[in-house]
Amino acid sequence: MAEFSRTTVTAALIYANGPIHIGHLAGCYLPADIYVRFLRLQKKDVIFVSGTDEHGVPITIKAQKEGKTPQEVVDYYYKEIKSSFDQFGISFDIYGRTSDPVHHKISQDFFLKLYEEGKFVEETTMQYFDESANQFLADRYIVGDCPSCKQPGAYGDQCEKCGTTLSPNELVNPKSMLSGASPVLKPTKNWFLPLDQWQPALTEYIHSHPEWKPNVLGQVKSWLQDGLKPRAMTRDLNWGVPIPLLGTEGKVLYVWFDAPIGYVSMTSQLTPDWETYWKAKDSRIVHFIGKDNIVFHCLIFPAMCLAHGGYQLADQVPANEFMNLEGEKISTSRNWAVWLHEYLVDFPGKQDVLRYALTASSPETKDADFTWADFQTKNNSELVAILGNFVNRAFVLIDKNFESKVPVKAEETGLEDELRKALVEIPAKLDAALANYKFRDALVLAMEVARIGNKYLAEAEPWKIIKENPAKAGTVLNYAIQLVAHASIALEPFIPFTAERLRKALGLEDCSWLEIANFDLIPAGKTLQNPGLLFEKIEDDVIQKQIDKLAQSKSSMELAKKEIAPIKETIEFDDFAKMDIRVGQIVEASKMEKSKKLLKLTVDDGIRTRTILSGIAEFFEPEAIVGKKISFLANLAPRKMMGIDSEGMILMAEDADGSLAFMQPSKEVWNGATIR
Ligand code: MF3
Ligand code: ZN
Repeated sequence: MAEFSRTTVTAALIYANGPIHIGHLAGCYLPADIYVRFLRLQKKDVIFVSGTDEHGVPITIKAQKEGKTPQEVVDYYYKEIKSSFDQFGISFDIYGRTSDPVHHKISQDFFLKLYEEGKFVEETTMQYFDESANQFLADRYIVGDCPSCKQPGAYGDQCEKCGTTLSPNELVNPKSMLSGASPVLKPTKNWFLPLDQWQPALTEYIHSHPEWKPNVLGQVKSWLQDGLKPRAMTRDLNWGVPIPLLGTEGKVLYVWFDAPIGYVSMTSQLTPDWETYWKAKDSRIVHFIGKDNIVFHCLIFPAMCLAHGGYQLADQVPANEFMNLEGEKISTSRNWAVWLHEYLVDFPGKQDVLRYALTASSPETKDADFTWADFQTKNNSELVAILGNFVNRAFVLIDKNFESKVPVKAEETGLEDELRKALVEIPAKLDAALANYKFRDALVLAMEVARIGNKYLAEAEPWKIIKENPAKAGTVLNYAIQLVAHASIALEPFIPFTAERLRKALGLEDCSWLEIANFDLIPAGKTLQNPGLLFEKIEDDVIQKQIDKLAQSKSSMELAKKEIAPIKETIEFDDFAKMDIRVGQIVEASKMEKSKKLLKLTVDDGIRTRTILSGIAEFFEPEAIVGKKISFLANLAPRKMMGIDSEGMILMAEDADGSLAFMQPSKEVWNGATIR
């Protein structure tokens, strides 16, 4: 670290398309904040830069879903996200936006330089175009049948039902999500960064960082092994940073091109020295991100910087894995999350408790799990029972017996040597853990100060000796208060609100990290301001409420699990009139051998009985449906399935959970009644 004069810390620019949850905090923002606070305590030159990513399909899709403009969406969420971070004490030096004109200008200049120096490859490819909306369609804007599982509703980049990764031209029967129309293929020109040409330089870069986390190196090396391919740095989309070239209407910079440049443009709004933080050889850049951003920060952005020239490449990309919630992946769409803005309402003033619990189980090396039970334990058995208890005892005893003034050290108890020995190793270890991004270990070490203090008080029992030996009790309390001061420093990066309360109580104004090596931080005779109880016990019913809340989102999600299918293309009345839909009655039903899905039904159609094979075996027992009135399509051309002619189709409604329901008349009607 010694050769660096300053550190530029970035935290991923989150899409401004939704509120933030504990997964975001644990994955990226909390570790970044801890790290920055640590450097600041060491009086290092550091800037902490982040903001919102306000471009790309994630924004336009959200806008379309909510019937708002993209601008309205990003304006709303920028404020909401920023306020959550503020309230959790994430201490950015600047929290910017990529919709800012300054950002547009800087990313356009970046693009232009590459363009003018011939660093792009121009290529024309065929892409789906919606003629009625007069727009090219991003992958996410095309739906169709999955070529793999055959189910409808697959997106141009992925079928969410079977998980297959797709490209738009693989979809069967593709439709535009904008208009429902069938899109046509049209040629379009885009600018590609030939990552393949940068592969040797990138390989060298990656190899020069064997110290990176294994989860990061693993992903990066597998990309390199597969061979990098040219990647389009422009997109046919009408929301984003306009391409600074003539004749490019309807195209913008690729969101992953402009977003990382956002780190730079935001720095330029923070300080006139911004170029130093990005370009000077003695500047160190550290990107905090979640694991889904690794390739962009470790390969694509570095390739952009190499192509541009002048920029330093990141020295560290300490990406975290994911934080799960109660054993399941956090999911915005399923509302399986703990939202920060809701936590603030349910647990006002308890930001540090969440910071503590999330750091204690941070997904540093592998996915981790947040549970409410664990949150409760961390609060009750650690923050309340150890830190809170220790601090409270020290202050209350000094208030009661020494008029709130720090007593002098007069007579030791014999326990102090051990105490000093236990404490002396902590600063160096804590330093090393933090400098190596081991925040979980670091938190344990910082808490160790409080543990030592708690143990010391419990063994020295100043409340017992105060009567006959006030000098000795006073000594113990002096030691205790020094430990409180040390804890307030060691814990500052993790639980800054509590640390500040402690510093105020102790009158410890300008404290720096190094002072932890200097034992007596608070002089005898100083008047203290009891901070009151730092933490309070969280009862079972409060925790149960949170668990119930999750259970509720689970059941409501079960209902809404499937997205409502888009409306199909408009048809004429004649098209409808061609269908002969009638009421019939199931008179026999049996399983089909060798088929899990099909039932063989005999249906009385009022004229005769007919055989219809129906794919409902997973949901109905044959015996249970005999006698039921149903609706069916009577003039569907017969089809042979498994050697049997099926004459028609039973109409079923598919519920959100995938189960099926018959379409039954609301009163007794005769078999053969027509439906129109
Ligand atoms: N918006 C991206 C996401 O939420 C992160 C962008 S980080 C930056 O996954 F590099 F682009 F800034
Ligand atoms: Zn599929």
